[in-house]
Amino acid sequence: MDKIVIDGGRRLSGRVPIAGAKNAALPILIATLLAPGEHRLENVPQLVDVSSMLSLLGRIGCPSLVHDNLVRLDTSRVSFCEAPYDLVRKMRASVLALGPLLARCGEAHVSLPGGCAIGVRPIDQHLKGLERLGCQFELSGGYVHGRVDRLVGARVPLDIPSVTGTENVLMAAVLARGESVIENAAREPEIVDVVRFLRSLGAQIEGEGSATLRVQGVDSLSPSTEGYSILPDRIEAGTYLIAGAITGGDVVVERVKPEDLVPVLQVLRAAGCTLEVGDEHVRVTRDGPICPVDVTTRPHPGFPTDMQAQVMALLSLAPGQSVLTETIFENRFMHVPELSRLGADIRTEGNRAVVNGVEQLHGATVMATDLRASASLVLAGLAAEGRTEVLRLYHLDRGYEQLVEKLAALGAGVARVTDDLERLRSAPVSRVGEVG
Ligand code: UD1
Repeated sequence: MDKIVIDGGRRLSGRVPIAGAKNAALPILIATLLAPGEHRLENVPQLVDVSSMLSLLGRIGCPSLVHDNLVRLDTSRVSFCEAPYDLVRKMRASVLALGPLLARCGEAHVSLPGGCAIGVRPIDQHLKGLERLGCQFELSGGYVHGRVDRLVGARVPLDIPSVTGTENVLMAAVLARGESVIENAAREPEIVDVVRFLRSLGAQIEGEGSATLRVQGVDSLSPSTEGYSILPDRIEAGTYLIAGAITGGDVVVERVKPEDLVPVLQVLRAAGCTLEVGDEHVRVTRDGPICPVDVTTRPHPGFPTDMQAQVMALLSLAPGQSVLTETIFENRFMHVPELSRLGADIRTEGNRAVVNGVEQLHGATVMATDLRASASLVLAGLAAEGRTEVLRLYHLDRGYEQLVEKLAALGAGVARVTDDLERLRSAPVSRVGEVG
């Protein structure tokens, strides 16, 4: 099992380029199915989740070529309209195949994502929304089987502004006959990017960034000759800003869209950081102590749930009390016991975490069960005295491109270690008396 070893206590300083957004790249990659032909996508982050999505597309019959952050995809032919369990189990976002496959093939068979470490995460909104457009679903054998003769535009009121739910309905609506209006749509910047990408294929959509998306269905879409560049990852950017803040450093995140970072920047300011905001960069410094802040996660433009764990690491060092309230996912405090292992004083009460700032964190061995929780442990380790080892790196590999390299370039004492002994231990061994 690989691990990250951090020798904490160093001030980070320097500039860090931010990759393309995972949560925009995933829906955009699968949305290429809507426009048969050759696609060119730029600024695609090199992440395990992206590889999983490309594997899924490969399974569907669409080969791809990856060169650094450039992905070329050929969606001319679709030979299989299924997202099988072995891929969905690795990446819940495979559920995004539902809308595009129904629009392209009139049928889709997608393994149910099942429970997930950060809560139950049902897909009822995806199914209800697609049903409004004429799709029919049947659940059997752990799969959702969808069919549709002809997608027909409709009013689609969502009960919850689900991010991937909005994307699934939107990706089907662009090829439906007539007008669709998605109400209570998610407003996240990644949705805006998906709309822009769909528009580059010829889709007619209005209202991105607002709660109402108005779609005029078209008969067909085709790949844009110029290609499309994925927007910068606001969660990766926020994570590095906190790395600067928690170490009392001086960090510039580059190639970002500062307007997408506003709720995170507000919390950093309230926490005592000084920020310089440019057109495409943000610089964070902190000279004084970290100040306690109360933070509540909300759908965009509120504070993102995907930054809650990282900001908790920061506030664990703020003298005084901070209260973090999680309103999006019901079980998103798994980092709390691990942060406590590093010396943080945090108690949870339902969906609230009460953080009493401590003077110092101390290195320990920790592991987390989700992506952003793992990031919070790395951040805490950067500030902790002594050595921290973060295990179960596959979560971080799903969402942070070259995390260790980027942190090391900022001056962190950090390395990725392949534990050969662990590998030997987990390898199948012959029992005494067995030969071969
Ligand atoms: C997306 C992001 C994830 C982020 C989350 C919230 C991707 C690939 N992932 O996840 O990083 O943390 O948005 O910003 O973009 N819900 C239902 N029924 C549904 C759908 C959702 O009850 O059909 C509930 C969920 O359980 C959750 C809330 O709605 O409590 C928000 O979930 P949703 O916005 O759907 O999150 P994802 O799209 O899965």
